[in-house]
Amino acid sequence: MVAPKAIQWQTNKIKFEEKDGKKFVIKSFSTVKPALIFALYNIAYFLNSTSKLALKNEYYFPSVKKRIENEIRGRKVLSYLGFKTPRIYWYDEKSICMESVDGEKLSDFYRTKEIKITEEISKRIGWRVRKIHDSGFALIDCRNENYVIKNNEIYNLDLEFFTKASEFQKMCDIVTYDASALNLKPEKCKAVIKAFHDGYGKNLTRDEIIYIMLFSLIFPFSLKENFIELANRNFNLYMLVKDF
Ligand SMILES: Nc1ncnc2c1ncn2[C@@H]1O[C@H](COP(=O)(O)OP(=O)(O)O)[C@@H](O)[C@H]1O
Ligand SMILES: [Mg+2]
Repeated sequence: MVAPKAIQWQTNKIKFEEKDGKKFVIKSFSTVKPALIFALYNIAYFLNSTSKLALKNEYYFPSVKKRIENEIRGRKVLSYLGFKTPRIYWYDEKSICMESVDGEKLSDFYRTKEIKITEEISKRIGWRVRKIHDSGFALIDCRNENYVIKNNEIYNLDLEFFTKASEFQKMCDIVTYDASALNLKPEKCKAVIKAFHDGYGKNLTRDEIIYIMLFSLIFPFSLKENFIELANRNFNLYMLVKDF
């Protein structure tokens, strides 16, 4: 199912260009995108505060300027930790121009590759996310579509919400990653989530499953998934809760 453009989930504008044989990407930041993503994030934050009866200042709604700063700072931190990201060539007050990574988006990679290969990559991503967290940072939007695989190397894209992180914000990485795997075939989904947690070094918690449920209730409104993916999402979520 492909929804008409006007009612699709608003994202940033991504333009692929080529000049003098060099490919690059210009990302122009939408002001609407964080309103949608952060409605979800701030609902989760609200529930977290209510259930713990604590109000820490984790409300987050970065401006376009801040999101561009996050993209730059995220690259610095990740490259310091030895992880790959597309290099930025220039930026202005509403766009960044970066190297184009000519690989396969992780969401497509998971759909098409054998289970063994998907497990290997997912375990490496779990380990990478753990290293980022142990350094005091989080990505916030850790969905598999924000990674590219090229020559067996993992690249992080979409660092606009990269931030110095609280425990709740670190949990958002685990929740968004696992929730983004729920549209895969059941066997693949189970393998990807298990491998991620093996790499991260921690099993799924009850709280994380509750936030994955919240994310999955709202995700269909993005109109990004076809009917089979939505059916997988519901079945995989059911199994995740049942097996806990
Ligand atoms: N440097 C890049 N190289 C290759 N593909 C990219 C690059 N940057 C973005 N993309 C593609 O564009 C998509 C959207 O980019 P992203 O930074 O995630 O923006 P959004 O905030 O709209 O999700 C990515 O999922 C990826 O497929
Ligand atoms: Mg993205």
